[in-house]
Amino acid sequence: MNRRYRKTIIAGNWKMNMTASDTKKYAEEMKKLMTRAKWCETVLCIPSCNLSTAVRAFKDLRISIGAENLYYEEKGAYTGEISAAMLKDLGVKYVIVGHSERRQYFGETDRAVNKKVHAALAASINPIICVGESLEQREAGLTHDWIALQVKSALSGVAADKLRRCVIAYEPIWAIGTGKTATAEQAGEVCSFIRATIRSLYGARVARSVTIQYGGSMNPSNAAELLAQPDVDGGLIGGASLKPEQFVEIVRAANQG
Ligand code: 13P
Repeated sequence: MNRRYRKTIIAGNWKMNMTASDTKKYAEEMKKLMTRAKWCETVLCIPSCNLSTAVRAFKDLRISIGAENLYYEEKGAYTGEISAAMLKDLGVKYVIVGHSERRQYFGETDRAVNKKVHAALAASINPIICVGESLEQREAGLTHDWIALQVKSALSGVAADKLRRCVIAYEPIWAIGTGKTATAEQAGEVCSFIRATIRSLYGARVARSVTIQYGGSMNPSNAAELLAQPDVDGGLIGGASLKPEQFVEIVRAANQG
């Protein structure tokens, strides 16, 4: 973390979990657990059907609400899709774009990711852009090439003054939901590489202002070590964000120091 130049952001990604009633219960639990003073911004990205419930339920806790996906067109005949303007109108502040599960199961391409980033920014929603390599790519020594490609294509055409609103989440695919966390050094190294990639595109001042998260089996016992890396400015947390007491522990780790 480096609080001097950029925000620390701890974000949960509930994926396809939790009903509206579960969401309200979770907020009640959080009221008992959350401590007031906090350095980091706390975000919960949740299923779209429960966004308005969550915006209301988490308002007093000063937890921002994010969506897990959006569609890039403004409006029209796109059955089942949700636009950036619809999210904005609900009070949504963040949106996850290009999660590896969406790339893998729903065919989300780098081009679609880029369009979604533009759509989110145009609606004043902050995109959390996910990038990450597979185990095969890591073992073949392709991690840097792959990550550079994903970062560059996601940010294609994005103006420098918009970069401060973009969050990049480094999520190695082999660490997601596997209980196999990247070591702090591995996470720190790729997050530094991501910042260097942004620096080569936008210069040092912009690069140091961008929040870069790590995601992949982050939990209360490894969070502090991961967040101690200078270029790891937060976490995108799946499994552990479903349990209020674990999520709060990770927020606490980000508030230390
Ligand atoms: P886990 O924390 O469950 O590994 O999930 C990480 C993730 O995919 C967050 O977006």
